[in-house]
Amino acid sequence: MKGLIEKLAKKNAEADVAGGKDKIDKQHTQGKLTARERIEKLLDPGSFEELDRFVVHRCYEFGMEKKKYPGDAVVTGFGEIEGRTVYVFAQDFTVIGGSLGEMCAKKICKVMDLALQNGAPLIGLNDSGGARIQEGVLSLSGYGEIFCRNTKSSGVIPQISVIMGNCAGGAVYSPAITDFVFMVKNTSYMFITGPEVIKTVTSEDLSFDELGASRVHNEISGVAHFETENDEDCLEQVRKLIGFLPANNLENPPFMETDDPVDRLIPEVEQIVPVNPNKPYDVHDVIRLVVDNGEFFEVHRDYAKNIVVGFARLAGFTIGVVANNPAVFAGTIDINSSFKGARFVRFCDAFNIPLVSLVDVPGFLPGKEQEYGGIIKHGAKMIYAYSEATVPKLTVILRKAYGGAYIVMCSKHLGGDYNVAWPTAEIAVMGPEGACNIVFRNEIKAAQDAESKRKEMVDEYRNRIATPYVAASLGYIDGVINPVETRVHLIRALYSLVGKRTQAPSKKHGNIPL
Ligand code: HXC
Repeated sequence: MKGLIEKLAKKNAEADVAGGKDKIDKQHTQGKLTARERIEKLLDPGSFEELDRFVVHRCYEFGMEKKKYPGDAVVTGFGEIEGRTVYVFAQDFTVIGGSLGEMCAKKICKVMDLALQNGAPLIGLNDSGGARIQEGVLSLSGYGEIFCRNTKSSGVIPQISVIMGNCAGGAVYSPAITDFVFMVKNTSYMFITGPEVIKTVTSEDLSFDELGASRVHNEISGVAHFETENDEDCLEQVRKLIGFLPANNLENPPFMETDDPVDRLIPEVEQIVPVNPNKPYDVHDVIRLVVDNGEFFEVHRDYAKNIVVGFARLAGFTIGVVANNPAVFAGTIDINSSFKGARFVRFCDAFNIPLVSLVDVPGFLPGKEQEYGGIIKHGAKMIYAYSEATVPKLTVILRKAYGGAYIVMCSKHLGGDYNVAWPTAEIAVMGPEGACNIVFRNEIKAAQDAESKRKEMVDEYRNRIATPYVAASLGYIDGVINPVETRVHLIRALYSLVGKRTQAPSKKHGNIPL
């Protein structure tokens, strides 16, 4: 027996060093952790149960028979985050650049199948040069199997991708199908093809940073949702995110006892939101006042900042917040913010997370660039996402709610369950100035003092049409509330919606305007 145990220990030691000390040192020199170190930081101490530690590839092309490493470029298994089970795979860049061959793919597919079967989140730590060139179509088939599983699991278990190195080809497509993508500043990159291939094909000379750094994907492409400082910070953020989410679509998100009173008033809000609808403010300040202990876990923070989305808690329940931000483009909705908002709303709906929408929106961003870019179809995504969502939907109109944007932002007409407005709200087809210039153009022109006539008409429009009391008189909003009581009202409404049930017509699936 002793000899057998010694043999096991030797094999285990070999698996631990994987691609070898030199490769591990290189990883560390670049400011990156190894796959095993990452798993250790991600999971509760001592909770990791590894699978397939001794799997090796079976490729004999290009001298690959001499490059066999136990585990074959990916570490897989399951463990716990705050005592809750998650499945995990971590690609090992020290082994053939973390490239994905047949056996790597089989290992990843095994944990994906287990995660789906057992209803637990899947977390992929990606650090890979993509399809293993030496294994040809076997690598491609491996990616195909992974993509297909990503898709089947979508909406059933949360899937989180963490980009922790140079990720190319298939190593970025799988993350794109998942729910959230984390990146690490300075050490993680995502691209379909690397700089060298691009230079050959298009003669473009691009650096890694220009092509696929975390800034590119967090601010410009919107592929990534979180930019983090380093590996440790990144894994800590993933743990935080998991804390807001249910294990699967049949469960509710975890309830977190809070010491923040449910009857807490927020008088500070009066200093934050100017009554004048043309004056900007940062809606983050309102969100933090409303939610438990001011804790807001923002998603897509650096992308399409005219809309703000993220997770928080109200009276201990996880909520998804969607808020227009008047501090950026006056809070207008454009192509990017539509995509951002719609995808977040759909995630919350899939995973039983109530939606709280804070509305202050002058409309869709006008202009040729937006029209040519397809704002019509992209804006429609928001309508579709809110209309299809069956989770509790709570909406507060803070100030402006004009035109299509009023409808889009979870209005009663799209199935809002609890819709209220502050007395500062203006609900109308368009803002008073624009409306009067069109409707009262002739009266204003004919007046002796055109400017004072215009002002008179604007005031009249504001008082008669653009007031929350018209919508309230029709039942399109359920009430007009004192802003300082916003948290209190939202919590009461949330309690009332705990048992919400809806019935939708049976169908295979809808056809969201993609
Ligand atoms: C086999 C690979 C590999 C790959 C890297 N390696 N990528 N081996 N297949 N795809 C190996 C390298 O040969 C090297 O081996 C080791 O991994 C480390 O790689 P380096 O190049 O030294 O590292 P670095 O300088 O950090 O550059 C990383 C990189 C670069 C940017 C990822 O290696 C690269 O461009 N690789 C190719 C990327 C790519 O085009 N992949 C195919 C995508 S197509 P040694 O022995 O020297 O240590 C794809 C198809 C699926 O994925 C698409 C589905 C839609």
